[in-house]
This record gives sequence, structure tokens and C-alpha cells, in this order.
Amino acid sequence: MLTICPAHSHGTEYLLRATLTKQVLLTRAGFSAELNVWLGRSARNSVAMGIAGPLHSVSRRFWFYHLAEIGMFAVTAGLHLGVMRAIAAGDPEKAADASDRLIDHLVQFTTQTAVPIKIYPVNEQFAAEIGDVDLSKPLSDEDQQAIKQAFWKYGVLVFPDQQLTHEQHIGFATLFGPLEVSIKAGRADSGKLRIREDLADVSNLDHNNQPWGEKSRQRMFQLGNRLWHTDSSFRHVPAGASLLYGRTIAPIGGHTEFADLRAAWDALSAAMQNRIQDLVVEHSIFVSRAKIGYTEFSDEERAELPPVKQVLVRTLPQTGRRSLYLASHAGRILGLPPEESKELLEQLTAHATRREFVYTHRWRQHDLVMWDNRCTMHRGTEFDDLRWKRDVQRATVSDIGNSVETAGRPAPALAS
Ligand SMILES: [Fe+2]
Repeated sequence: MLTICPAHSHGTEYLLRATLTKQVLLTRAGFSAELNVWLGRSARNSVAMGIAGPLHSVSRRFWFYHLAEIGMFAVTAGLHLGVMRAIAAGDPEKAADASDRLIDHLVQFTTQTAVPIKIYPVNEQFAAEIGDVDLSKPLSDEDQQAIKQAFWKYGVLVFPDQQLTHEQHIGFATLFGPLEVSIKAGRADSGKLRIREDLADVSNLDHNNQPWGEKSRQRMFQLGNRLWHTDSSFRHVPAGASLLYGRTIAPIGGHTEFADLRAAWDALSAAMQNRIQDLVVEHSIFVSRAKIGYTEFSDEERAELPPVKQVLVRTLPQTGRRSLYLASHAGRILGLPPEESKELLEQLTAHATRREFVYTHRWRQHDLVMWDNRCTMHRGTEFDDLRWKRDVQRATVSDIGNSVETAGRPAPALAS
């Protein structure tokens, strides 16, 4: 049985290990040197070959190669034989061509993303972990499609153990649509951004990478994230998907809870569904911040984000499922007396966040968690934010339009 492991990051060098076969393969040095000297030119790439003992698991991803190589082995062996025959026949040109074909085959085989992603649902309808995918690399069309289908089905996806640069984080997010730019009112006290402005800095760090001050504006603003909300419902065009990446995680606390607003809708009585299905709600970031007692915003900041209208119930084009659309940003339901409006929003929020509709994500470092803001709410749980560093960064994908203006429109929301 064979496996191929990328041995070096440079070039296309590979270590080819054989255990099933007894065939004697040339060592990497011998193979390269022999080709280089004998062919009178540098081999285009070096290929490492050697006999290995029993295979040890190098990483879980490589187990795939054990199986897949069974099928590919005949091709590999045939090409290798071609090189040997050309060398034996004293035909340098033919040997060069044969070695190129062998190398092309190995490169193609070892770089293709042939492992289908694995989906581990947390429950049947809501939240899933996704395995066997490396988001730092370009994804095959099949993997992209599988991830989108899982996203629309489960609403929350967790991708553990991802090593992402800012560019790779953004690159993955843009598969789902155009990104939002973070709002001025939520930025650090100094006005200096710690990270690029197309990522929202949801950390507790100042621009010197130190935990924020107790009375800092940034802290007061972000404490609002501990209320149940959906991202950017206070914008005319709200957020579709959010992708939060955990670079540094607090050792205790600092979880993220998610509520499934589709399941919450399904569980409402028919009478309540009829009562609320056509209602429109006004949302504002200043409503949610006022709820935690923070109102220190300038006229300019208030003018930048006037109240916007959103539907209270939406239909998701990809699945046809209906969902509540709630957030702490929701101020009043249009057409209802203030008291009745307040009471109804509180009643629906309490219903939607009952434990049976909630998944709690306990972060591990380098998790990337993405959620569908159109049909979920979330909130951060408490942690000792003056003591621990929690560096989480969010790429936010815009929805296709305002929820009132796009209601009933058959166009797909989020890139399909
Ligand atoms: Fe949020």
C-alpha cells in the first residue's frame, strides 16, 4: 500500500512510501542525481522515492491517500516503469518525457482535493461541524457546493483547526457574496484599526493588542453583543452570513450561543404565526446599545445609521423554510402601540431562545464558525475580558437586499 506525503513546501517534492510492494525504488538522491547527470539537464522536479516500514499516520488527511492510491497505483507503477525502460534503452529524450509524465501524475494526484468534506450535525436541523476541509486552500466546486448546502440546511457551521491569514479568511467568505465594511461607531477608541476594515474586530483588544480598558468605548459598545441579536439588522441591507475566526480564545467563558429562528417559527401556534407574519419592525444599533445603558454616540454616528425597516418573518429562498427575524436591535413593530410592540418582541425573543432551539459553541483556537443571520440569533457569553485575550475576527457577507424590499422575491439570497 502506498501513501504520498508532501515532504517540503518548496517545489513539488514528495516522499513516496511503499509498504505493500517489494519493488525496489530509487532513493530521492539517487533518482534525481541519476536523471540529472544522465539526462544532462535538471530534472524539472525532484521525486522522492524509498521503501518505508509500516506506515504511521502522518495526519488524518493522509489516510485518504492510503485508499485512493490503491486505484492510482497501477498508473503510478506504469509510468515509473516507462522511465526505467527508457533509461535501460539509452533513450534520454524518451526518459525525460516519461519522467515528466510521472511527475505530472504525482503532482496532480497529491494536490487534488479528492477528500469529500465530512459533515457532523450537532442535531438533525441545526449546527454542524465540517471536517476534512482546509479553508486556506482553493476549494473544489464540489466542496463549495457541499458547504453551501450544509450552511443552508444547518444555519451554523463549525470548521475546526483552520490556519487562516486575513486574506484566506476573506477569500472563503467572499464565496458567499460581497463583504460589509465595519461601522465607525464600533471601532476602537483611538480610531486606529487593529485589523483591516473589511474584517470586524470582535476582540477585547486595543490597537496595541492589549485587553481594552474597563471604561473604554470599545468595551461598552461590544458588551451589547451579549444580548441576543443578528448581525447588522440595523443596516438597510443586513448581514447574510457571518464568519468568525478564533485566533486567540479565552481559557474559560466567552462561548457563543446560537438560536434557531426557523425551529422557533415552526413551534409557534398557527394563531401566532398568522398574527405576526406580515409585521414590519424598525431596527437600530442605538436601540440595542441603549438596552445596556450605553448612549454616548455623536450626532454624526447617529446620522450614519438611521433606523431601518425589516420584516419580522422571512422565507429562505434556498430551502423555502420560514423564520423569525429578531434582534436586540429591534425597536418597535410598525402599526402597533409601543407597549404591545415591546411585549410582543420580548415574548417572541423569549420563545426563540428556549434551550431546545439553542446550540452553544465552546470555542477552540482556530475554529472558524459561520452562521446565517437570516434565520439565527446569537450572543457572546461572559468571560473575564479584562484578564484574558480573546482575539476573534469576523468577515461579514451582505444579504442581497433589505428584507422588506426583497420579501417574496425568488432571487437566491447569498451567492448560490
Ligand atoms: Fe454578532
